[in-house]
Amino acid sequence: MSAVLVEREEPIAVVLLNRPEALNALNDEVMGELVEALEELDREDGIRCVVLGGSERAFAAGADIGQMAEASAMDMYEARRIDRWDALRRVRTPLVAAVSGYCLGGGCELAIACDLIVASETARFGQPETGLGIIPGAGGTQRLTRAIGKAKAMDVILSGRFLDAEEAERAGLVARVVAREAWLEEAKAVARAIASKGPVAQRLAKESVNRAFESTLETGLDFERKALYLAFASEDAGEGLKAFTEKRKPEFRGR
Ligand code: CAA
Repeated sequence: MSAVLVEREEPIAVVLLNRPEALNALNDEVMGELVEALEELDREDGIRCVVLGGSERAFAAGADIGQMAEASAMDMYEARRIDRWDALRRVRTPLVAAVSGYCLGGGCELAIACDLIVASETARFGQPETGLGIIPGAGGTQRLTRAIGKAKAMDVILSGRFLDAEEAERAGLVARVVAREAWLEEAKAVARAIASKGPVAQRLAKESVNRAFESTLETGLDFERKALYLAFASEDAGEGLKAFTEKRKPEFRGR
């Protein structure tokens, strides 16, 4: 059975982690299949937004502890396990994390690596790594801190406390909290709304917002301006602006 399930519902796709017996713990198989699936979907013109989810009980309970317990530091270094995460950064298609239940450790880092999080009211976010004698190693100390600020990130990482969905939303980690039974459907609705806009513009906007995380304001503003000119040069911009003046729905082609 696949460790990751992929369903295409054009213009969106749904990717579900499928290792329920271990609460979707991210072992090599899950991460390998996940990266492969996202890279493939990213190359498909018909897919304009991807939802990434787990099960109702767990988005993912972290990196696979059994696998880590057997690995030496050199094994980790040689296997380039964490390097796989760089591939996620290169995905241009917008990614919506649909989080229900446990979202811990590497699972929380995976959700934060997506572009936005739609969380069930059952979601629990945490970085319990220091309880295992290690630290978050897939961006947790960096992305979580930028998302929710130093005080809360220190609290979550050093005390191991879980944030429930409401607190995570208040802290700015989660975009929307939805009813427990609707976690996947609501995330799909968000994805369909995203997919209905100009695809070139969406990719450029995603890249630009990420710049706000990664650079100074001046560099970010400069990047944004260039991205706007590039968006203007797209066929989609011609179509979107013309459709508005002609009072009809635009037909974007992603060019
Ligand atoms: N890795 C491997 N297996 C895991 C796992 C993980 N991260 N999390 C849960 N599982 C397995 C359990 O071992 C258990 O398997 P068995 O039935 O074979 O014993 C199964 O999933 C169900 O889990 P529990 O019986 O523990 O379920 P629970 O409801 O009692 O508790 C939980 C749920 C609080 C999430 C608990 O499973 C837990 O604490 N999990 C570990 C969370 C964690 O520490 N994550 C961080 C991992 S380190 C990391 O991610 C490093 C990094 O940043 C790179």
